[in-house]
Amino acid sequence: MSETSGIFLDTLAGQRSASTPIWLMRQAGRYLPEYRRVRAEAGSFLDLCYNPDLATEVTLQPIRRFGFDAAILFSDILVVPHGLGQEVAFREGEGPVLERLDGERSIDQLSLDRMPDRLAPVYQAVGQIRSALSRETALIGFAGSPWTVATYMVEGGGSKDFGRVKALAFSEPALFERLIDILEQATVRHLGAQIDAGAQAVQLFDSWAGVLPPDAFETWVTGPTQRIVSQLKREHPTVPVIGFPRQAGLLYPDYLTGTNVDGISLDSTVPLPWAASELQSRAVVQGNLDSALLFAGGDAMLQAASRIREAFRSGPHIFNLGHGVMQHTPPDNVARLVDHLRALDAGEAAA
Ligand code: CP3
Repeated sequence: MSETSGIFLDTLAGQRSASTPIWLMRQAGRYLPEYRRVRAEAGSFLDLCYNPDLATEVTLQPIRRFGFDAAILFSDILVVPHGLGQEVAFREGEGPVLERLDGERSIDQLSLDRMPDRLAPVYQAVGQIRSALSRETALIGFAGSPWTVATYMVEGGGSKDFGRVKALAFSEPALFERLIDILEQATVRHLGAQIDAGAQAVQLFDSWAGVLPPDAFETWVTGPTQRIVSQLKREHPTVPVIGFPRQAGLLYPDYLTGTNVDGISLDSTVPLPWAASELQSRAVVQGNLDSALLFAGGDAMLQAASRIREAFRSGPHIFNLGHGVMQHTPPDNVARLVDHLRALDAGEAAA
């Protein structure tokens, strides 16, 4: 076992470690009162993302409170379209609102050249966070996958049926390919810059991977992800990549084979025995407690957490949720979950 890199990176490298590493998607955020205070001070959500001192502070808050094994940069997947020149705003209670891309002209106006300047504060935050963390706590950088980011860019925000973006992909594949290609390049640069600034692993969030039929999944999810992973590996061969093709269901194994990610984050619909035999034999698995069980707390949460840990005990596993922490989750439930998992580790060490 390595003495310097901590259990998160050891596990992600496929090594057995004495205990199960833990972090949670959206571990920084509105469920924490200390986050809400900083958020109010920052002004808008994007102002918070682009303020290195405040972004550092909110990244560290859940580490101080819960002692997670990894911190994840506080930012958002939509800083990439913003960096490319698209208008992006976060409205209270409404979520993200983007100036909708409509056709060739607006796609050709996106510019990779202005991204490094616009996103410089993000990379500055990465450096500050890395300096503030102890050696045992890893720093994860992230980006959205081209497909998921494109859904927001084309729909102009969140969507229920993804009608516009699917119609574009299905009826004008050459034009959609141009958008995906820009996003691939932007993602490689954005993740590369985070790695250069101090990120030790990166995660690709593909929150809407599960809405595509299998052939389109292959074209717009697996293909772009594979190209991003291979470019990153060329430039940063030792930095592990975690993929999160949320709700990909039976396509999870294809994603794993087709992309070469080192780790795979599982949503909470994935059956544990199936994941243990079909996925964990080929990659490090991460997940997959239902976020609503964390919100609910109590014995239901603790029992589900034990079952997940037990199912993945024979191979490398990083404990996480199946999606992000919900806004109204009591912070005490998070503390209980962490205590429970640490107690299970301690019990085994003693046995
Ligand atoms: O995990 C972390 O702690 C790091 C920070 C992080 C945020 N967003 C902060 C955030 C990460 C990794 C993300 C990823 C992200 N952003 C995804 C992929 C994961 C997922 O949730 O599916 C997506 C789809 C987005 C886009 C996005 N950002 C949406 C749809 C929203 C609005 C929904 C909401 O919860 O309000 C955001 C805003 C956002 N990103 C918040 C946070 C803490 C809440 C904004 C606020 O504080 O007002």
